[in-house]
Amino acid sequence: MKRYILLNPGPVNVSTRVRDSLLRGDLCHREQEFSDLMADIRAKLLKVFDIEKDYTAVLISGSGTAALEMGVSSCISDKGRMLVIENGVYGERISKIADVYNIPKQAIHYQWGEYSKLEDVESALKEHADIEVVAMVHHETTTGLLNPIQQVGELANRYGKKFLVDCISSQAGETIDFEKMHIDYSIGTANKCIQGFPGVAFVLARKTEMERIRDFPQRSLYFHMAGHFTAQEKGDTLFTPAIQSHYALDEALDELLEETVTGRIARYSKASKFLREGFTKLGLNFLIPPEQHSNTLTALKLPNGITYPWLHDRLKEKEFVIYAGQGAFNQSIFRIANMGEITMEEYQSLLTALEEIVNGS
Ligand SMILES: Cc1ncc(COP(=O)(O)O)c(C=O)c1O
Repeated sequence: MKRYILLNPGPVNVSTRVRDSLLRGDLCHREQEFSDLMADIRAKLLKVFDIEKDYTAVLISGSGTAALEMGVSSCISDKGRMLVIENGVYGERISKIADVYNIPKQAIHYQWGEYSKLEDVESALKEHADIEVVAMVHHETTTGLLNPIQQVGELANRYGKKFLVDCISSQAGETIDFEKMHIDYSIGTANKCIQGFPGVAFVLARKTEMERIRDFPQRSLYFHMAGHFTAQEKGDTLFTPAIQSHYALDEALDELLEETVTGRIARYSKASKFLREGFTKLGLNFLIPPEQHSNTLTALKLPNGITYPWLHDRLKEKEFVIYAGQGAFNQSIFRIANMGEITMEEYQSLLTALEEIVNGS
């Protein structure tokens, strides 16, 4: 099997052990074995992030956006307003979901890559007393920027608001202290830092929230979190789940329990530090200030005279898959993620390949 080194921020390279788990066997989701599998996954998610006491996990088949849509559309009453902080594609996606469901919304909009300002969040909270939920992205994958969720969570808590965080590209890749950060809902997915396959995503929610949202208006048939939660608590599932992706998530969580979240963060940190030193030596320029960088993705300016398709194709010939910039960044940047099962030797080979391509062009 040809191995491409995936430097896109998910889906990531997985271990042989996770890949092999896809072959655990054909299974009907209405059988006890699937109930047991689901219960195991939900329990392992809580265990690995050390949130067993006060949180619960709700699974949904689909990509990360499915879990985000489930969380956003289900977490607010028909009287509340959502405050959304946007500084990239994914913050804007939260707003789009709120709009699709006609959820009243206040957006604080920044340019992509601009750091959010706490004073803006506080003024919005003061101005709009009907804000019920504050929502933002932890790691804004558009630019590789790590947003200040702890400070925003503290503000949300001080004003008595619920806090929903898109942790799709940060869960298991960054330190997340649920209690300290006052997180009520964390949205995650299997195929990024958790190192499973695409097809299953989840919301980690405060248990008391499941009580609070139970009788909220049902805005969606498929993405109704209270419905999924009730079914999963009984060992049941509302619809046909992506069974094989659940196998892989179960295995990936075992691996993560063995490596520990702290261990994984340390491994990713080592890789990003190594890569960033290498990029600097190659004369490449970062899109955002280094102190705002996440652990797992670096956005780099394209060197003069080099287009993204050209760079992508040269690297792909050498079995490295890089990632384009989105929207207005499409012509000016490229992104290199360091998530997944990739060795330090492979990162060194990437730097060597980049040097040959960029400096030899
Ligand atoms: C922060 C963030 N939110 C949401 C998404 C959307 O996830 P998906 O493409 O799995 O639906 C991504 C994907 O990269 C992301 O990085």
